[in-house]
Amino acid sequence: IIVPGYGMAAARAQHALKEMAGLLRRKYDVQVRFAIHPVAGRMPGHMNVLLAEADVPYDEIFEMDDINRDFADADVAYVIGANDITNPLAKTDPSSPIYGMPVLDVAAAKTVFFVKRSLSSGYSGVDNPLFYNENTIMLYGDAKAVTEAVVKQLEKSAEPYMKTRSATSRKPYRRIPLRYIPATRKSAPEGMAFSIMMVCSKTYKT
Ligand code: TAP
Repeated sequence: IIVPGYGMAAARAQHALKEMAGLLRRKYDVQVRFAIHPVAGRMPGHMNVLLAEADVPYDEIFEMDDINRDFADADVAYVIGANDITNPLAKTDPSSPIYGMPVLDVAAAKTVFFVKRSLSSGYSGVDNPLFYNENTIMLYGDAKAVTEAVVKQLEKSAEPYMKTRSATSRKPYRRIPLRYIPATRKSAPEGMAFSIMMVCSKTYKT
């Protein structure tokens, strides 16, 4: 699930994003959806306008209330140039200026990527504790440049990879091309999640 915010607009990353989504779908058979928060960006409908400009199909774009519960089943939340709209303090910290604002539950996804240039706060000036979560990977850089780098890797990769260790194993993950995995254990979305993680951790070490 891709979560765009103000930084996507600032970087004009919507075209690269559309390319990334298309590749994931066509080449890796991944279900890709966009989650739009009502105040993402700096004006009403900001994200919808930019995604429409990039020709992202309407049926891939979901308003917050229609998709928020689906993060729990998602392999990857790709949060690109968004910050406040994901900040869980809006639910838990009554002293926070964003307290009471509904937020996207991105942390429920298996892996959360935050594409931004630093650990800086967003419009509200409030730190986001999600940046320090176990299942978060920070991809530092300009939203467009990072997404273009991911696109390049996705174009190059001959095939997705998947995790190959049992739940109880303490050994690190091994990268094994999907063709070596018995058909019954193949899972393109899971493989893709891992593949993107490998791509990004190689390209952008935090
Ligand atoms: P923000 O919370 O403002 O976060 C945007 C993030 O984008 C920043 O933390 C920044 O981090 C990153 N960023 C900026 N330029 C970037 C670039 N070129 N590449 C990559 N990342 C970049 O945005 P949001 O999550 O969309 O939330 C919107 C906020 O604006 C809310 O607080 C909302 O209340 C407020 N607001 C909304 C509206 C409407 S109607 N949409 C109107 C007024 C105010 P880095 O600096 O680390 O890159």
